[in-house]
Amino acid sequence: MGRLIICVVLLTSQLQIQAQTALSYDQARQAVLTAEEELMTGGHTYLNTQEAKVDDIFMEYKLGELAQGYRNADQNAAALHFFKAKPLIDRSAIFRFLQKMPKGAVLHLHNTASVSSKWVVDDLSYMPGLLRCTTATGRSVLTFRRTPKEHRCQSQYVLVSDERRNSLDRKIYDRNFERLINLYTPVPELEYPTITHVWDRFQDMFDTLNDALTYLPAFRAYHWQMLEELYNDNVMYAEIRTSCKMIYDASGRTFPRERTIRELYAINEKFVKLHPDFLGFKIIMAVYRGFKVDRLNNLLEEFKALHQAWPDFLVGFDLVGQEDKGKPLYSLLPVLRDLPPTSRLFLHGGETNWFGASTDINLLDALLLNTTRIGHGYALAKHPILMNAVKSRRIAVELNPISNQVLHLVWDMRNHPGAQYLALDVPVVICNDDPGFWNAKGLSYDFYYAIMSLAPNNAGLKVLKALVWNSVRYSTLTEEEQTKAFKILELSWSRFTDNVLNGRVF
Ligand SMILES: *[C@@H]1O[C@H](CO)[C@@H](O)[C@H](O)[C@H]1NC(C)=O
Ligand SMILES: [Zn+2]
Repeated sequence: MGRLIICVVLLTSQLQIQAQTALSYDQARQAVLTAEEELMTGGHTYLNTQEAKVDDIFMEYKLGELAQGYRNADQNAAALHFFKAKPLIDRSAIFRFLQKMPKGAVLHLHNTASVSSKWVVDDLSYMPGLLRCTTATGRSVLTFRRTPKEHRCQSQYVLVSDERRNSLDRKIYDRNFERLINLYTPVPELEYPTITHVWDRFQDMFDTLNDALTYLPAFRAYHWQMLEELYNDNVMYAEIRTSCKMIYDASGRTFPRERTIRELYAINEKFVKLHPDFLGFKIIMAVYRGFKVDRLNNLLEEFKALHQAWPDFLVGFDLVGQEDKGKPLYSLLPVLRDLPPTSRLFLHGGETNWFGASTDINLLDALLLNTTRIGHGYALAKHPILMNAVKSRRIAVELNPISNQVLHLVWDMRNHPGAQYLALDVPVVICNDDPGFWNAKGLSYDFYYAIMSLAPNNAGLKVLKALVWNSVRYSTLTEEEQTKAFKILELSWSRFTDNVLNGRVF
């Protein structure tokens, strides 16, 4: 008993709560549980009467779904691989709730993999002039160039429309086409036995799509669809990572990179005009970490010039590609240190299961380089000093639950370190990374895992609200833009809670 009291006194004094001198066993238990609840993300989020009622309804459904999963492990979406869980999630009432919930901003999303594969098949692959060829390693390459670079392929280029017409069944052709840009398989454990299997396929899919997406008409249609899918999923703003590849048009002309930014800017303006409750997007230039240092240097020079021309739109810089493959941030210090003061870094860091390797040490360099946020930060829990720094400096960790699962870091999402970040109130935002490449769409699927797998069983609207508000707070929206964003968010949030109470959601 004496030890228990000391334990509670220690815990509570740490939280600067008035310690009791003597507690019963049950009081001590409760004090610890309450203290942990208050410590976690959302622990101090205020819910008004209306929101509290919504929370009650939400919790009834959530506990019901968890209980169902507890009774039947093969129905426990919270613990299953997304490829197996998706049909269950699609039928879930919690998922419907999350789809309709205003989710604020998505702050980690790569443009090339942002759109659902279904749209790419149904629309993009039907655009006239699309060509396909096969490389020596069996990867497909898609392009709209009239005179494509032959050296990339072993086979001849063929028109996708011809292939489709000559196929036995258009539906089967389209299904096979979708597999070129979607990792889905009913048996991921067999098809991707190691991280290398899945990362190789994943990286291939960027190479399959990249050139087709920089064809001006495709570029416009694709990014418009990206915004549609975010907007329809009740996301109000995005920060998009893009390599800003050079665009070409039907005449075969290639434009300088500045044109890519200008196109994105124009698409943004047009979309926002049509959707006044959408705040649009900003971009982060993200280049392949595997490039030679000279090439990276050149790209950084280009970035600086572009950032100077578009300081409020092209807000920062990042490096992409599998971290485990090498090129740690430390080896790129000379490149990364030399950024103009108005630009920022949004570095991927610690997207790994290694501990004490160059990959998780990237987290240290990201922090020393004053990164604005951390992409993934999967290994952060293994570095207590870095985790403290992230917390005290309010550097948000961009969690991408499904990405980490599909790309082989975790199987049962309840083991994802994001659970610890929530428990310790490390600042996090929920993101979707590359939803189109793994059969997802929008941000709601990642929110499903966040609330069902990462957050404790009894966590409801407080955590969700904290995560949504975080997404605006940790964005690069200016103070003025944030004020506007919160005004719109408050309004759509209260409309949403009204709808829940009027039975229009469940
Ligand atoms: C990071 O910020 C600190 C404090 O403002 C500053 O002293 C340091 O030089 C910065 N580091 C880099 C690499 O910009
Ligand atoms: Zn990423």
